[in-house]
Amino acid sequence: MKAAFYFENGGPEVIRFGDLPDPDVGADTVLIRSGWISIEGGDLLNRIHTPPATTPFVPGYQAAGIVEAVGDEVEGLAPGDRVVGFGWNGSHAELFPVSQRHAYRVPDGMDLKSAAIIPIAFGTAHDALFEYGGLKPGETVLVQGAAGGVGLAAVQLAAQHGATVIGTASGAERLARIEPFGLHHGIDYKTQDIADACREITGGKGVDIVLDLAGGRGKDQLVSALRAHGRYAVIGAAEGTLPSFGFFELIRKAMQVTGISFGRDMHTPRVHALLTSLFERFADGGLTMPVDREFALSDAQAAHEHVAGAHPFGRVVMRP
Ligand SMILES: NC(=O)c1ccc[n+]([C@@H]2O[C@H](COP(=O)([O-])OP(=O)(O)OC[C@H]3O[C@@H](n4cnc5c(N)ncnc54)[C@H](OP(=O)(O)O)[C@@H]3O)[C@@H](O)[C@H]2O)c1
Repeated sequence: MKAAFYFENGGPEVIRFGDLPDPDVGADTVLIRSGWISIEGGDLLNRIHTPPATTPFVPGYQAAGIVEAVGDEVEGLAPGDRVVGFGWNGSHAELFPVSQRHAYRVPDGMDLKSAAIIPIAFGTAHDALFEYGGLKPGETVLVQGAAGGVGLAAVQLAAQHGATVIGTASGAERLARIEPFGLHHGIDYKTQDIADACREITGGKGVDIVLDLAGGRGKDQLVSALRAHGRYAVIGAAEGTLPSFGFFELIRKAMQVTGISFGRDMHTPRVHALLTSLFERFADGGLTMPVDREFALSDAQAAHEHVAGAHPFGRVVMRP
């Protein structure tokens, strides 16, 4: 099969493209012939930080396509079915092997490109806001990194739940583009102090819940923007560096800090049901995700460069 792969951590330049052996089909495997491959924020984080378990390493969390083959123990899915799959790696390839528990049937009428960008972005945002965040209507949410995939999903889900949504992005033009998704207040994280802006918006009270998708140096401003007893969801580090929390910092605000790892929950019946409902909301037009740009898989290096450096709005996808 053709695949994008790398041998060591680094920037987009470590990505190569070529022929690799087809993946094995284990007893529990659903082998997907990829139709559309999403580039997830975590694909970049892994490329930079996570030492490849084996080499050549095929990165990539998510792709949608047609089932090519199934293992002996797989029930309910057969060659020809349309699915979107999750794996800790492997989606940047013509053939993507996932476990049965990480294969989600694509509803009739939904195109594979849409299916390829829904589960991780919307599922992560949903879990951070509701399953672990306990968001209630009328509360105020701060989404750091609101123009990205998880961020745009969070803005829509929080606004539709009756929350006041504050989001950050780099520049007024990007913030204006987020407004139709439900953003009530935009903050340019490059030029504004996030904590000052949030205090002004909330009348000095602070926000109820923070979704941190960027990590890095912005974290201190996010902590400062949070009210006492507020909730802080640690989700991602799109800025590229990993901050930490101080002992007294946590005590002073009596903060609840929750680490989100949606991939850990994606095999569960709860998440299968959640994704079914999110697919329905997407199909009904209640949720949407802009595709910023499409690349050929053979241009995976350029695609990663675009995601890393060009401030895409929404998702970037690749096609084998
Ligand atoms: N824990 C989990 O289960 C989980 C699940 C999914 C994703 N994630 C992580 O969440 C993060 C976001 O994922 P994604 O798929 O949404 O990524 P994405 O689509 O690439 O978006 C990343 C966003 O981060 C923003 N950003 C970058 N640097 C920033 C900074 N210094 N301050 C504020 N915002 C900044 C960017 O905004 P501008 O372009 O406007 O600058 C961009 O819109 C990634 O680190 C990913 O690994 C975690």
